[in-house]
Amino acid sequence: MSKQFSKEKMDEYEEILTHFPNKKAALLPTLRLVEEEFGYVDTEGCKLVADLLDLSPAYVYGVLTFYTHYNREWHGRYRIMVCATLMCALKDSLEIVEHIKKKLNIEIGERTADGKFSLEKVECLASCGTAPAIQINEDYYENLTPEKVDKILNDLK
Ligand code: FES
Repeated sequence: MSKQFSKEKMDEYEEILTHFPNKKAALLPTLRLVEEEFGYVDTEGCKLVADLLDLSPAYVYGVLTFYTHYNREWHGRYRIMVCATLMCALKDSLEIVEHIKKKLNIEIGERTADGKFSLEKVECLASCGTAPAIQINEDYYENLTPEKVDKILNDLK
């Protein structure tokens, strides 16, 4: 069955539309509503948004995959995003990536079998002065070492 917004989310959607000159311009906040309602945005969520905004599902999916901040179906409860941009790379972020991969036994773009953790490489997290940095859900962790990563992951387990 296709995804539908609850009455409350539909009201929010209608309210959001009043802030934009046309439906297409409301694409990003409408994707956020899907994430809030269902926990993540999948192809069915894209279809819902496409229907609401009179866009093609392919266009919506293209926008969704351009941005890294939307939760996707495969993400774990703890979504680990490791910055792989220059300043972090110079401060050994790739070593952090390898450490997390080994510790959780997953590759980039995968989720642990229990669904708890997923791992991604992302672009600059705007924390270059405290590189290397990672983001887990809404929280930042900076000046990382493999030992600090162990403590962070153990605390989340
Ligand atoms: S380069 Fe990693 S936070 Fe900016």
